Amino acid sequence: MRPALRALAREAWLRPANLVAPLFVTEAARGRREIPSMPGQFQLGQGDLLKEAEEHARAGVPALLLFGLPARKDARGSGAWARNGAVQRAVRALKRRFPGLVVMTDVCLCEYTSHGHCGLVRRGRGGAFEIANDPTLELLARTALSHAEAGADVVAPSDMMDGRVAAIRAALDKAGLGNTAILSYAAKYASAFYGPFREAAGSAPSFGDRRSHQMDPGNRREALREMALDLEEGADMLMVKPGLAYLDILREARDRFEAPLAAYSVSAEYSMVKAAAARGWVDGGALRDEILLSMRRAGADLILTYFAKEYALDHPQGA
Ligand code: PBG
Repeated sequence: MRPALRALAREAWLRPANLVAPLFVTEAARGRREIPSMPGQFQLGQGDLLKEAEEHARAGVPALLLFGLPARKDARGSGAWARNGAVQRAVRALKRRFPGLVVMTDVCLCEYTSHGHCGLVRRGRGGAFEIANDPTLELLARTALSHAEAGADVVAPSDMMDGRVAAIRAALDKAGLGNTAILSYAAKYASAFYGPFREAAGSAPSFGDRRSHQMDPGNRREALREMALDLEEGADMLMVKPGLAYLDILREARDRFEAPLAAYSVSAEYSMVKAAAARGWVDGGALRDEILLSMRRAGADLILTYFAKEYALDHPQGA
């Protein structure tokens, strides 16, 4: 079939307008350090983040998702809501320089806690450690509020504590920031696909794991329940994460919910392609395009991916 004819009947497309680029920002004024397991991705100082944002904007990527790397960590993760923290400063600078850019922020404590967990840690029954769900909610709300006050358009809680969306929605509304949207990491699985990210963000837990609050990869109905709950609590958009290994969940979420749906193509999805392509085993660009398109076909509206800039440069009109 001729390409134009094939295109007429094409069902799914991915345009740069659907892409969100995750970026890692530090408190340093400048500098960039490449993340060894994620070639082409960097921990960026404030000035270098602006340069990177400009390159993204020029390539046609309309949105960024920021992760902060604090200079110091403590048991409560207090850097997460610091007025002059890495993310808060970056958001203010980005909104000043690029008013049209959509700025999203990841809301979690794991990059800020000395133990690397997503919430406060305490000794539970029998002396085993546990994450203290309810006391963590206030800290997450405070963090989201500090991002919104700095000017974030969208806050994205990734911690998976129960009730966090309601707590964040209430805090935003009370502060008169009801226009700040919440993109909830609603169906977030306990996944080995986050490995490179934890190196990038220095957020690997120093003991235990995240299986008490992230979802079991064997569960499908649980994901749908979590998404319905987050919508009830006031989420504006829902996310499925990881993307590639959970396309079935994306498809079901698309069929069931009307809210905008995001897929997060996470760190190992990027690293696997880069590693295999570097050995000449695969065509990296073609693999990238097929993986991202599969998420659109499965029903995602927006896609968060470390490939955002290179995809946009290769396909300015989409593909
Ligand atoms: C938690 C968070 C994680 C990712 C995004 N937000 C890591 C985790 O839950 O351990 C992973 C993203 C990726 O792998 O690209 N703040």
